[in-house]
Amino acid sequence: MKAMNTIKKFGYKILRKFGIVGKEYQLLPSNFPVANINTTFNQIGKLNPRVTHPTEYVVLGVLASITKQNILEVGCYLGYSSCIMASAISSDRKIFSVDRFEIPKNWSKKTSDNWIFKNYSQIEWATKNRNALGFESKITFVESDSKSYAAELRNMRDRPKFDLIFIDGDHSYEGCLSDMKDYMPMLEEGGYLVMHDYNSPLHPGVAKAVDEIIQSDISFKCLYLVQSLIVIIKEHPKS
Ligand SMILES: C[S@@+](CC[C@H](N)C(=O)[O-])C[C@H]1O[C@@H](n2cnc3c(N)ncnc32)[C@H](O)[C@@H]1O
Repeated sequence: MKAMNTIKKFGYKILRKFGIVGKEYQLLPSNFPVANINTTFNQIGKLNPRVTHPTEYVVLGVLASITKQNILEVGCYLGYSSCIMASAISSDRKIFSVDRFEIPKNWSKKTSDNWIFKNYSQIEWATKNRNALGFESKITFVESDSKSYAAELRNMRDRPKFDLIFIDGDHSYEGCLSDMKDYMPMLEEGGYLVMHDYNSPLHPGVAKAVDEIIQSDISFKCLYLVQSLIVIIKEHPKS
C-alpha cells in the first residue's frame, strides 16, 4: 500500500510538472493503473535486478497510460521497461520492442549481470519475464538491429501508429543520433519521445545527440528530465 501511494504521488507529481494535469489532477485518467504498475514493479524486482531507476519506470508507466496508440521501444534488454509499460496499457494496444538480443551466455566478467546469462540467453529472459507477467499479447519482441527494423517499418504498408517511443539502445553519439533520425518521423503528433541516460556520465553521446537534434527540429520540445530520462513531445504544427 505504501509503495502504491508512492507511485501514485510520483505519478501525479510528474504529470503536474509536464503540465498534463493541473492542481486538481483533473486530467488524470480515471483508469490510471497505479495498482498494475505497482504489481509489475514488484514482480520484475523478484525476477532479477532492475536496470532502470524506479522513478523512471513510473514516468514510463504514466506516459504509457496517457497515450492511446502503440509503443515502440529500442533496447529491451530483459524486458523490464516493456513490462512496466505493458502494465499501464489496455489490451488493444501493442508494444514493439526491438533488440539485437546478442548478449552471450558468458557475458563479460565486468558486469554484475553476468550470472543471469548462465542458464538463459537474453531473449529467453525477456520472454520468461514477459510471460510470467501475462503480457504475451501486449509485447512483441523484435530480434533485430534498430537500423534494420526502422527500414522494415518504413516499408510497411500498414505501419502501426506510435505515440510513445522509448529509445534505450545504442548509447553512443552515432547510434543514438541514428535511432533518433530513424524513429522520430514515425512518432504521431502530440506523441512522446523518451530517451534514457540523457545525463549519464557514462554515455555523453546521448545528450550530445539529443541536444543537436532538438535544436534543429522545432516540432520537438523537451518537457522534462526525470533522473536520466528526458521526455520530449512532438508538438502539433499549430501549437
Ligand atoms: C540499457 S539496455 C535496455 C534496458 C531496457 N530498456 C530496460 O529498461 O529494461 C540496452 C539494450 O539495447 C540493445 N541494443 C544496443 N544497440 C542496439 C541496436 N543498434 N539495435 C538493437 N538493440 C540494441 C542491447 O542489446 C541492450 O539489450
